[in-house]
Amino acid sequence: MNQKWNTGTYDKDMAFVSQYGESLIGLLKPEAGERILDWGCGTGDLAAAIAGHGAVVTGIDASSEMLATARHKHPQLAFILADGQSYTAATPADAVFSNAALHWLKDASGAAASIAASLRPGGRFVAEFGGQGNIASVVDTLPAAFAAAGCPDKLSLPWYFPGIAEYTSLLEQHGLTAGLALCYDRPTPLAGGEDGFRSWLNTFADGILSVLTPQERKEVLAYMEQELKPRLFQDGVWVMDYRRIRVTAIKK
Ligand code: BEZ
Repeated sequence: MNQKWNTGTYDKDMAFVSQYGESLIGLLKPEAGERILDWGCGTGDLAAAIAGHGAVVTGIDASSEMLATARHKHPQLAFILADGQSYTAATPADAVFSNAALHWLKDASGAAASIAASLRPGGRFVAEFGGQGNIASVVDTLPAAFAAAGCPDKLSLPWYFPGIAEYTSLLEQHGLTAGLALCYDRPTPLAGGEDGFRSWLNTFADGILSVLTPQERKEVLAYMEQELKPRLFQDGVWVMDYRRIRVTAIKK
């Protein structure tokens, strides 16, 4: 999958990603002097908010576009370009934090092993990401959209949306004791009025769409919009059917 990020659009139109993540910092309870890793930090806004509590934060992300913007916006923070499915911190951290990132790591076992190896014994893991049923409207409609555009074999989904039982047992297998674990619906309104969904697809499904010809891409976008408008477009606003998994765990 070749997902490219336009960080200008991401920060402007998808600002809700960081805004929703702020409540997760309340669960993390960062303390001054703690070493904290932000796993999939994007453009670094939540890493900066955690650092605002006096913690020493390092942001990790696999996207060079995201990290270029993060370094520009938050030059006081450390960022590392790395794959969260295989990276291990040189110095184990007090906590690993992750918002809206782990559903991009399809090798969930590799990610859990990397996170566990990057924590000190007693260190904590606090994360939120897409859970089972997340954006089901999109996931369920993409196959028909690709078929209608004449390219059903080009569809490959880049996301991992587990249920709580699956995910907590994965954490346990990697030496993490799960604490809180919940899955909840979080309908998410998009900016941009009528164009909001197209913009969302062009941002978050770019990796899926980038394998298409320009004509196929146009047809898939038009199909998705037409098919999902009756369900997701309400009073002039597209509202995405996000479903989050929120989890905490402690390294044994
Ligand atoms: C999310 O749940 O945050 C998400 C999932 C897939 C694509 C984009 C966003």
